[in-house]
Amino acid sequence: MGEIGTIGVLTSGGDAPGMNSVIRSVVRTAYFNGIGVKGILKGFVGLLEKNVIDMPVRSVSGTLQRGGTILHTARSLEFREDAGVEKAAQNCRELGIDGIIVCGGDGSFRGARDLSLKGIPCIGIPCTIDNDISCTDYTIGFDTAVNTVVDIADKLRDTSQSHNRCTIIEVMGNKCGDIALHAGICCGAEAVIIPEVRHDLERDILNEMREALNQGKTHFIILVSEGVSGERAKHRAMDTHQLAAMIQEKTGVETRATIIGHIQRGGTPTAQDRLMGSMMGNLAVKLLRNGIGNRVIAVRSNKLVDYDINEALDMNKTIDFEELQTFNEIS
Ligand code: F6P
Repeated sequence: MGEIGTIGVLTSGGDAPGMNSVIRSVVRTAYFNGIGVKGILKGFVGLLEKNVIDMPVRSVSGTLQRGGTILHTARSLEFREDAGVEKAAQNCRELGIDGIIVCGGDGSFRGARDLSLKGIPCIGIPCTIDNDISCTDYTIGFDTAVNTVVDIADKLRDTSQSHNRCTIIEVMGNKCGDIALHAGICCGAEAVIIPEVRHDLERDILNEMREALNQGKTHFIILVSEGVSGERAKHRAMDTHQLAAMIQEKTGVETRATIIGHIQRGGTPTAQDRLMGSMMGNLAVKLLRNGIGNRVIAVRSNKLVDYDINEALDMNKTIDFEELQTFNEIS
């Protein structure tokens, strides 16, 4: 790999709070190391359209506290085809981009791997609120999303308690129940229903509720991942509103459903997301500067590490059983 003079940075897939701290860190670290930066707008779509901007050192001022991504994001179908990747690599050569930092999830990392194979070294940075990337304990945006859900759940508990109701809250997390589980522990939910666990509704939810009612409990908060009852759920038996109606019918507790949706993706990033984004952006530039590409940055046991992209994509993600056990014992 030749010397890196200019790197590109793009954000791809669903936006995540903290992406801007990655972009800012990339620009500032590159400047520190005498490397130029081009911002690629709208992810791989922008690369195919040569939609890029110069990012001088001061271009990222005032962005750290902003949610979303200043580079915009998109999902590109054309980039999934070999011809699209070839065109993108050619565009990089024409634009003088020697390597790219790709912020996104697994789909974006596949793109980064394909582009690396075409001779443009790429580094992936895990950014998604779902925390569903196998190679890392943590993804940028997760902490902000969990805090948003906890805040909303606290508000819903006020009204749930006042009316002696059960409130079902559908949260994001298509294949991964981490948002529901973490928020469930932090807001004191009575139950979480997540895609990784086979739930017996009668045993795990309804009987538990009846038992709690007998003990004098008057209101309930239940978190359900969209991967179980949301529009995209693969094996959806019922949607979240139907689930609420069923719980009301079987327990006699008046029940309401709230689907939080994209509110979870917005907002000011937490300190944790800003810190991790800044650290990961810094390491990504250093890897490229040292001639290393086709890697994904990850957090393992609170340390930053990096993996070969193929190795990272082959890993499996499981729920944290200690967290699940803790939830089960304290709920
Ligand atoms: O991957 C993040 C995520 O927010 C998922 O939780 C959700 O299923 C999906 O993106 C929603 O995507 P879109 O913004 O395209 O509706």
